[in-house]
Amino acid sequence: EGRTVAVAHPNIALVKYWGKRDERLVLPFTDSLSLTLDVFPTTTSVRLAPAAGSDTVVMDGAPARGEQLRRVTAFLDLVRERAGRRERAVVDTRNTVPVGAGLASSASGFAALALAAAAVYGLPTEPRALSRLARRGSGSAARSVFGGFVVWHAGPVDALDPDAASYAEPLGDAYIDAALVAVVLEAGPKAVSSREAMRRTVATSPRFPEWVAASRADLTRMRAALRAGDLETVGGIAERNAIGMHAAMEAASPPVRYLTDASATALGTVHELRREGVGAWATMDAGPNVKVLCAAADAERVAARMATVPGARVVVARRGPGATLRTEG
Ligand code: DP6
Repeated sequence: EGRTVAVAHPNIALVKYWGKRDERLVLPFTDSLSLTLDVFPTTTSVRLAPAAGSDTVVMDGAPARGEQLRRVTAFLDLVRERAGRRERAVVDTRNTVPVGAGLASSASGFAALALAAAAVYGLPTEPRALSRLARRGSGSAARSVFGGFVVWHAGPVDALDPDAASYAEPLGDAYIDAALVAVVLEAGPKAVSSREAMRRTVATSPRFPEWVAASRADLTRMRAALRAGDLETVGGIAERNAIGMHAAMEAASPPVRYLTDASATALGTVHELRREGVGAWATMDAGPNVKVLCAAADAERVAARMATVPGARVVVARRGPGATLRTEG
């Protein structure tokens, strides 16, 4: 029997997912909206092994261990439970993104794993089912199932089957040719995981309710701006949304702070570009890096300027594809 190989790309949220209303099912408080990128794909192969024994997981050539191994095995257990099968799996996954670069390898990682594992164990691989499955591995992975601009629906809180109601889908009516310039900065000592940081924000931040309300409004307005091809409005909403998310987590106790002095310098450079009339807006996730949204036509110019930030490495990304499958051997 051959190996089944899936490829998926990272995505960057313009309206963020931050906070789960259900940890086990990975159900978020709010809808989120992202752009899938054309850089740093994850390639994951899965094949079946005898039911006795355990899963074998290799990440970038080395055996996975600790929390990473636990998360992959828990995900495979869910796949087996749904498929009614007991075989173990041999998983080999390769990231082209430098690990810890803050470029969302868990999104591409669980999207690729969900697709390869669903195919191998005989679960449905149609995109909506796949998106729901990938969500269980990592929330943001639900969005990497699709290419381009994507919305992930939180689903109604009173849904009869909340798992079925929370999935991502591509936005067929986003009329913007955008690029994302990733400004990769020195990561400090390993900060708290986004999973833990979210939990702490939900449990302790007095600013979390205000973040949820703002995010809901942001999503509605951003969808309209994408339909209208209005990059300026999209960028402004994205930047404020990211800053609001970081404000909410910095108000948690103990506070969660991912942004560094270098992040602030990069943000300052983005604001300088805007004052000069270049359309450029920043977004930041669970790490110090800054990603700059701009028109595809401005990407090289924006990248050249962002490269002047001390210690910055710059990567230009454009709209990327959804997860794909191939079977070998
Ligand atoms: C800041 O999807 O990594 O990138 O569901 O706990 O695995 P888990 O979290 P994850 O969180 C991503 C958070 C974010 C914003 C976003 O991508 O929407």
